Amino acid sequence: MKEVDLVIRGAQVVSPDRIVPAAVAVAGEQIVAVGHDDTMPPAREELRADGLYLLPGAIDSHVHFRDPGYPHKETWKTGSAAAALGGVTTVFEMPNTHPATGTIEALRIKQKAAEASYVDFGIHGLLGDDTIDRLEELLEGGVTSFKAFVGNTFGNLPAPTDGALLEGFETLAPLGIRTVVHAENSSILQRRQKQMQAAGRIDAMAHLAARPAVAEIEAIGRVLTLAEWTGARVHIAHHSAADSLYLLREARARGVDVTAETCPQYLLLNTDHMRTLGGVMRLNPPIREPRHNQPLWDALMDGTLDMIATDHAPHAPEEKTRPNIWECDCGFPGVETQMPLMLTEVNRGRASLMDYVRWSSVNPAKAWGLYGTKGVIAPGAHADIAFVDMSRTGVLSQNKLQSISKISPWNGRAVQGYPVHTLLRGRFVMREGRLVQDMAGWGRSVKSVQRMPTAKPRNTEHYSSAILRTPPGVPETATPVGEIDWSRA
Ligand code: DOR
Ligand code: ZN
Repeated sequence: MKEVDLVIRGAQVVSPDRIVPAAVAVAGEQIVAVGHDDTMPPAREELRADGLYLLPGAIDSHVHFRDPGYPHKETWKTGSAAAALGGVTTVFEMPNTHPATGTIEALRIKQKAAEASYVDFGIHGLLGDDTIDRLEELLEGGVTSFKAFVGNTFGNLPAPTDGALLEGFETLAPLGIRTVVHAENSSILQRRQKQMQAAGRIDAMAHLAARPAVAEIEAIGRVLTLAEWTGARVHIAHHSAADSLYLLREARARGVDVTAETCPQYLLLNTDHMRTLGGVMRLNPPIREPRHNQPLWDALMDGTLDMIATDHAPHAPEEKTRPNIWECDCGFPGVETQMPLMLTEVNRGRASLMDYVRWSSVNPAKAWGLYGTKGVIAPGAHADIAFVDMSRTGVLSQNKLQSISKISPWNGRAVQGYPVHTLLRGRFVMREGRLVQDMAGWGRSVKSVQRMPTAKPRNTEHYSSAILRTPPGVPETATPVGEIDWSRA
């Protein structure tokens, strides 16, 4: 048998339907064998991983690395280092940088910055009124997917009008490309916030009052209507409200290709934590009342919610701790703490490791067209592996975060279950809990391995160039218009 680079022995391999003791052989960037110890080829390095679990590396669909634009909050190097430390091997990065990722020039700047990445990545391009004519160009330039900020948030990018959103979906539906949507109704948010401010409210609860669940329900409903009409694939970011879950269920039942994420903060935090955490907890959508936590768990368990993402949204501590809630930036880092937080819940019996792998890796890989290459520990897949110690205990400390943003609502939280090594395409980017410094730059875009399945566009055939010209044979001033045979257009 040909010598391989690495054989890992003694661990248990986790997939969504089983946990099996198996050895794993890695050659170059790929897994080449998974099986009984005796069947492994000779290897240059043998690694004992007794007592550990091997999970396909986590895929975080939602991170903000702030680069270009806000290096005091985060950079590609620091954000991706945080990912590696957190057992995350692939991230999808958001376009609300400065410049926003809505032009080829801005994309090139981001791609240059991403050359420092420790982990693999996709880039969400911006879908807005100003960018809908450039979506195909951005795709050719390397974005993997798009993001529409239907609710306003950090960066204050204007929400796309409904007309632009429809057009964007009409363009993307035939291409099979999925659009992430920050689904909150921006006019509700803006009016409510103004009212709160006029009333002199500056407390943390006022932020929640300004962003009621109905803003999320309405926006998700609207987005799903447009997705259903066009056949466009959509992904609901940071689902926070119990009340909008039914919309996902019903839309799926009607055949809409919608995926959805929630984040640890919506599962594990609620307004009871606001008194102590104040502005540190401020994010969009807001963390809500306790009644939302359990339905979100239930929705993960029954598949209504597909995955865990983090909305890793780093800011400087002074930007998060101002006395006036409206002056606290929204969001906090998360890519590094997601795995220990969720593994702790697994240890508490709230889900199995198999469930976790489905949410952290398998389903994101499927949503973004990476499954088979990523999201699985099997021959032929990238050797992206989070080695997990389920018995290791610790206390999360914001000062120890790899992220520049040393402020976190998880500070002081006891956890059990940590990633101890992270392997990305056959190379360790984190080992024994420490970053492998010289692996900066090993991360690369997943664009070349992305395969989105063929889509089923609907009601898009007359859009774009066809809609803008008069069909042949139709008199320009025909009255009444009557039935036009568009099939001859
Ligand atoms: O709280 C948030 N912060 N929510 C978002 O959607 C964006 C993020 C940011 O970029 O800071
Ligand atoms: Zn976000």
